[in-house]
Amino acid sequence: MSGPNTNYDPVEVAALDPQLIEEAVEAALAAAAGAASLDELKRIRGAHQGDKSPLALANREIGALPPSAKAEAGKRVGQARGRVGQAFTARQAELEAERDERILVEETLDLTVPSPYQRLGARHPISLVTERVEDIFVGMGWEIAEGPEIESEWLTFDALNIGPDHPARGEQDTFFVEPADAGVVLRTHTSPVQIRTMLDREPPIYVLCPGKVFRTDDLDATHTPVFHQFEGLVVDKGITMAHLRGALDAFVQGLFGEGIVTRLRPNYFPFTEPSAEIDCQCWVCRGEDSACRTCGGTGWIELGGSGMVNRKVLTASGIDPDEYTGFAFGLGIERSLMLRHGVADMRDIIEGDVRFSAAFGMEI
Ligand code: DAH
Repeated sequence: MSGPNTNYDPVEVAALDPQLIEEAVEAALAAAAGAASLDELKRIRGAHQGDKSPLALANREIGALPPSAKAEAGKRVGQARGRVGQAFTARQAELEAERDERILVEETLDLTVPSPYQRLGARHPISLVTERVEDIFVGMGWEIAEGPEIESEWLTFDALNIGPDHPARGEQDTFFVEPADAGVVLRTHTSPVQIRTMLDREPPIYVLCPGKVFRTDDLDATHTPVFHQFEGLVVDKGITMAHLRGALDAFVQGLFGEGIVTRLRPNYFPFTEPSAEIDCQCWVCRGEDSACRTCGGTGWIELGGSGMVNRKVLTASGIDPDEYTGFAFGLGIERSLMLRHGVADMRDIIEGDVRFSAAFGMEI
């Protein structure tokens, strides 16, 4: 910057020479107008508007002028810089508009052009049925609970009143996780999630526990070593078998249709007392076709087990059986699927052929 300039003559302060300023403006306007692309505009902008541009230098000289001259010089330089700034901004806007226009044309997609059909896979019917069952119970205000597939023997058997010598323990075809004495198994049913839930939360409990279970069965048309169940558990004050029946009726109506009812037949399970087998009215013939292939003419289809949670199970789970009662049920998903859709061979369900899944339609 120049030193104090007492005898000011703007023409003598070279950078403030009106002629030079006008020339700098003209050069800048011409350069802006001549820039053919945004990149070029960006590149040349510094020379006309940057710190070392003639107008920036002129601007810096103003500080050294006597006060009487500052206003006039400031206005002139300010206007010059303003014109240059506007010219660059305007050219930038023009070039951006041209670019946008070009992109719109270049990147146009014709969405009507036919494309080769691509199969995008299908959702597995086990997932569809599971979600549908979950929706029915969530619709009644229940929650979904989950537990691990590798489970402790205590939760899988002992806490469910299936002691070490209980015959049911041997009948479960259990996969043991090595070492064999570690007390760890692949869960043979979803019932341990009952115990986990009761240990975890306080009543009232209304949960549905869907999941995979494992048994040492060979794969054939009616057996598979890995299959799916869902377990229901309710624990609250004053729960009776009538509530169990009501929940099951609501469930089968949600899954199989209006007016379908259930029937309970006495049975035995160590974890429920009393226990009952759940039959569902045949949703194909509703008991009116003695030749019905779905129910074999009986009018009823066996769905799974249920009962009032055994006092011993409540106690093992830290719940006072004098204060609370509850019901539980357990159903197989593959079985429901086979019956509902007439799937004759279990292997079709597990093989993962997309053509099998696709036949169930796409439900999200
Ligand atoms: N856990 C039994 C099984 O896998 C099914 C079952 C029966 C579950 C009765 C229950 C129940 O909750 O109350 O064979």
